[in-house]
Amino acid sequence: MLRGDTVGLRARYEEDIPVLRAELYDDVVYSTQAGSGPWRPVSPGSTDSRLTVDHEDDESVRFSVVELARGTLVGSATLWGIDTHNRLAHIGLGLLPAARGKGYGTDVVAVLCHYGFVVRGLHRLQIETLSDNAAMLRAAERNGFVREGVLRSSAWVMGGFLDEVLLGLLAAEWRPAAGTHARSDGRTDA
Ligand SMILES: CC(C)(COP(=O)(O)OP(=O)(O)OC[C@H]1O[C@@H](n2cnc3c(N)ncnc32)[C@H](O)[C@@H]1OP(=O)(O)O)[C@@H](O)C(=O)NCCC(=O)NCCS
Repeated sequence: MLRGDTVGLRARYEEDIPVLRAELYDDVVYSTQAGSGPWRPVSPGSTDSRLTVDHEDDESVRFSVVELARGTLVGSATLWGIDTHNRLAHIGLGLLPAARGKGYGTDVVAVLCHYGFVVRGLHRLQIETLSDNAAMLRAAERNGFVREGVLRSSAWVMGGFLDEVLLGLLAAEWRPAAGTHARSDGRTDA
């Protein structure tokens, strides 16, 4: 388990899957905006890579996000595209609708930075998000990510092309956010 101020990132449990499927991946607009490609229905029991964990896949690590206070599932977070030669990876996250706007997203980014830089020894993390995703842009910038460019008309979203913003953060620039003490607690339940 990795802990931030308000959220924990732990292993994906079997009981998380129907909740994530119903509240995130069955939502056509969410799936499209979150960059998961064209929406497709996900069947119960599916081994869709967004829901289940492939331990043979060295290029991505998928976490479930829980509220620390109650242990309740609030979303999903991923370090993906892990490139051990260039020591970089990408960050992705999605919170259940009821968990958004409470500061959890900012804390999840902080914990993923801790995982990427401290646990994995990466040199660079990056985030691609739609240019109108104010909450994601702010959660990234609050953690020190810098806007490095705009990918013009790079995302087909619900009938039109939108720009994406590319944000990057280097290990040497990273400072854990004030009040954030993301850490691994050494427990074996993750
Ligand atoms: C994007 C997402 C992860 C952000 O997490 P969150 O917990 O909602 O965001 P936070 O509460 O940490 O807010 C971060 C900042 O954005 C602001 N914010 C939150 N929701 C906002 C909204 N709808 N519009 C504008 N600003 C918003 C907050 O005020 C905060 O700013 P501050 O630091 O100046 O106070 C979350 O909203 C989400 O899961 N959205 C759907 C999936 C998604 O878009 N994933 C990203 C794909 S790249």
